[in-house]
Amino acid sequence: MPSVLVDTGYFMSDERSAHARLRPDVVAKDDWVLKAYEQTNVDVVNVSSHDLRYFSSVLAKPEFARRAGSEPLLEQLVSANTVSESPAVLSPRPFIVREVPSREAGAPKPVRVAFIGLTETMPAPPPGLKLIDPAEAARRTVPEARKAADVVVALAKVSSEEAARIAREAPGIDVIIAGNSVSLEQSFTPPFYVGQTLVVFTPFETRMLGELRFYRGAQGKFTTRQRFIVLDEIAIPEDPAAKKFVDAAASAESQARDNSKKLLDAWLASSLGRGGAKRELGSSGKSAPVYVTSAACNQCHAAQYMKWANSAHAHATDPLPPRATEFEMSCLECHATGYKPAVASNTSAVASFQNVQCEQCHGPGSDHVAKPAKGYGRVTDMKAACVGCHNSEVSPGFNLQVAWEKIKH
Ligand code: HEC
Ligand code: HEC
Ligand code: HEC
Ligand code: HEC
Repeated sequence: MPSVLVDTGYFMSDERSAHARLRPDVVAKDDWVLKAYEQTNVDVVNVSSHDLRYFSSVLAKPEFARRAGSEPLLEQLVSANTVSESPAVLSPRPFIVREVPSREAGAPKPVRVAFIGLTETMPAPPPGLKLIDPAEAARRTVPEARKAADVVVALAKVSSEEAARIAREAPGIDVIIAGNSVSLEQSFTPPFYVGQTLVVFTPFETRMLGELRFYRGAQGKFTTRQRFIVLDEIAIPEDPAAKKFVDAAASAESQARDNSKKLLDAWLASSLGRGGAKRELGSSGKSAPVYVTSAACNQCHAAQYMKWANSAHAHATDPLPPRATEFEMSCLECHATGYKPAVASNTSAVASFQNVQCEQCHGPGSDHVAKPAKGYGRVTDMKAACVGCHNSEVSPGFNLQVAWEKIKH
């Protein structure tokens, strides 16, 4: 029997890091979820607001171009109400048309089914993407989808109430398949009609497979029937290939966690006790100043040192060890001193130090310490100096006056 396998969305894990980004182990897990969908030949996937944490980086143009050739599923993503706000980021397609071969004698024309993607608007999307009202997006998309297809289906990760509102405000959808389930009880929300639109629901998690059958009547009109297929061991015996796949995914996930911990441990060990770094040669051949750490400044700027030592900056590395599994070298751009990503692979080239030391703001101080004078380390644009780290993503409530008052020295 010809069939189309679709997903209503929220199939990626979206556990966030301290700064609302996906953790490396979560990315590893999500990569495998995508592989599993590729393997099971999923035809259309609705991208929900939750899935955007993962897909926002995939939708960046160069990344998409790099992966789409080998990962056909990326071309099957739909969302009519996820809109790119950046020229560097793609919007998912609002709808996709699938042709289903007809089984009727003398009716060789395939049935064209349009799948429109819709999602709830919370949680807020990552930077570069905007979520518009799903009913409004549906209203705009339905006429176009109707022109291109015989049947219009909306895959919607929305509540039952939202599904009903979409059906009311965007007439012309034949079926809304709503992923509304937040609990096992809700997974059995009975189907209902709003005008001509049938609203059905997907089951909770992946404990059951929802099946929706379409029967074409004499006048080309469709009737439907639905059932849920329980996916337990009795109905679906364990498949050794699938088990191997799941084990590989679990191991990739734990390896990502181990890698993060190892990276952090290695950095903590190598960054400790680096009181005096070797002088680097600048491009002119003249030796450039290097970092000497706050302890060296303490000799002459005791008052500033006391103020700093009691500020959060003197402890800026502390939040990393409890979050070891989410550690990436990029954390050091803001939670350390002297870390330069460009030379990160050559760790001995530039020493980086724990915490946000005086020199992270004032610049490497070896020359000044050797020959103290005015002129060193002037911060001409204080705002720019702070928002390099306290940007709107990691420090959304950052207020320069209030913050400076706390660390003024
Ligand atoms: C051996 C003493 C000594 C050490 C060590 C020292 N400084 Fe200074 N610093 C000075 C003197 C002296 C001045 C000039 C003060 C003046 O003339 O008002 C100065 C000035 C400064 C100024 C103001 C520059 C200006 O043009 O107004 C900054 C900022 C500064 N130091 C930061 C640091 C930092 C950061 C460190 C550690 C890396 C450090 N100092 C280590 C003695 C020292
Ligand atoms: C762009 C700069 C930047 C990067 C990159 C960054 N952080 Fe932060 N982080 C900050 C700032 C700024 C704060 C303080 C936020 C505030 O209090 O407003 C902070 C605070 C934190 C906190 C404390 C949050 C709390 O509730 O007390 C943790 C934990 C943390 N960061 C972990 C990390 C980890 C792990 C990484 C790497 C994956 C990372 N950060 C990368 C700038 C950054
Ligand atoms: C988070 C960034 C930051 C850190 C960390 C920091 N400073 Fe500053 N520092 C500033 C800013 C900003 C100013 C004010 C510049 C201004 O007023 O124009 C300043 C001012 C100063 C001045 C006074 C310059 C003057 O004109 O009087 C000195 C001296 C100084 N810092 C030394 C230190 C020392 C020593 C440490 C570490 C113990 C330190 N700073 C840590 C950002 C920082
Ligand atoms: C190199 C990155 C970096 C720079 C530059 C930076 N900060 Fe921070 N700041 C941090 C991090 C990381 C934390 C969080 C430390 C923690 O929670 O352990 C922090 C915490 C703070 C806090 C304590 C959190 C709070 O809201 O009470 C204040 C205040 C603050 N910074 C002010 C400033 C100001 C003002 C500037 C600019 C003069 C500045 N910072 C520049 C990284 C930075």
